[in-house]
Amino acid sequence: MAIISSKNQSPEPQKRRSRHSAPRENSADTGVPAEVSAPEAESLDRSLVEPRAIAVEEQNSSKPEQNIRPQSLSSYIGQTDLKQVLEIAIKAAKTRKEPLDHLLLYGPPGLGKTTMAVILAIEMGVNCKITTAPALERPRDIVGLLVNLQPGDVLFIDEIHRLSRMTEEILYPAMEDARVDITIGKGQSARTRSIPLQPFTLVGATTKVGALTSPLRDRFGLIQRLRFYEVEELTEVILRTSRILNIPITKEGAEEIARRSRGTPRIANRLLKRVRDYMQVKASGAIDADVAKEALELFNVDPCGLDWTDRRLLSAIIENFNGGPVGLETIAAATGEDSQTIEEVYEPYLLQIGYLNRTHRGRVATPAAWKHLNYQHPGEQLSLF
Ligand code: ADE
Repeated sequence: MAIISSKNQSPEPQKRRSRHSAPRENSADTGVPAEVSAPEAESLDRSLVEPRAIAVEEQNSSKPEQNIRPQSLSSYIGQTDLKQVLEIAIKAAKTRKEPLDHLLLYGPPGLGKTTMAVILAIEMGVNCKITTAPALERPRDIVGLLVNLQPGDVLFIDEIHRLSRMTEEILYPAMEDARVDITIGKGQSARTRSIPLQPFTLVGATTKVGALTSPLRDRFGLIQRLRFYEVEELTEVILRTSRILNIPITKEGAEEIARRSRGTPRIANRLLKRVRDYMQVKASGAIDADVAKEALELFNVDPCGLDWTDRRLLSAIIENFNGGPVGLETIAAATGEDSQTIEEVYEPYLLQIGYLNRTHRGRVATPAAWKHLNYQHPGEQLSLF
């Protein structure tokens, strides 16, 4: 996936856009004057709409690891319910010759939110511009991206819960009425201008849907959750990736890796590559269950897919806080891990497999976690008497 700086984008699209879009009346709710005509738009201070130092990715890329990303809904494994919803939305939008509705994808990292946005763009026959909320710090960053979109383009914003308030407010009229309102000048001489945009689809991705403001969340026509993958689905993902990368592997080998991949295709593909390295150096032939097991044990990935950090978090709760409840910040301080990373990266899988509970008084390690880490749960001792 090529990373291009949007700094290099030419101002041409503004001219093209003003040819295509119909003029609109003054907007009553914002009090903004009618949209600027092309010459007027040209005379605006370009620095207001030229993004700087932001990375935008487009889906046409030559990075080798992108080749393993599925390019169509039919080659995307898992997320069956989501695929059904999107298939219908795509067909309906194509029939109406309209862009897809704005879509919010949420769920733990590594489940394929970016991949899905790229597939949507491919299926709709449009470009996909990929960026992330922390790269849209200043208003000009988002404005520059928006005014350069082609009709129907997909704009993918990762970590959308981290948008600044100003950027978020620029998005509201963009999402609702395909326009951006910009203020030129300061104080009494300040004027607001409205710039028409091409109709587009915003795909937002977040690991924390609850952290989105409701005005932003309410502007998405579709809100969909990505779930963890079943072992069978991950086995299919691993076999598919192995075919693409010419890695010899048995079904049992793929299953062993899948079981230890925390329900996450990104982790499955990463472990597959590490096991391939191990096989190249320490073994020969195809990756089978034994090779996969040996390699993953060496890399400290246990049979449930827990790594060193997962075990450290659980054992800190058990050893230092007698199993909990204990607050997130306290766990972070005790383990030296970042609280946001614990919450967004580690906890979702521990909750999913039933090793951790979240209560209003804090996190609790469950009896299953005690057992997995070879601790004797106090409840077990009591039951002996
Ligand atoms: N590679 C990573 N995720 C995938 C998925 N969901 N389907 C197919 N290949 C993948």
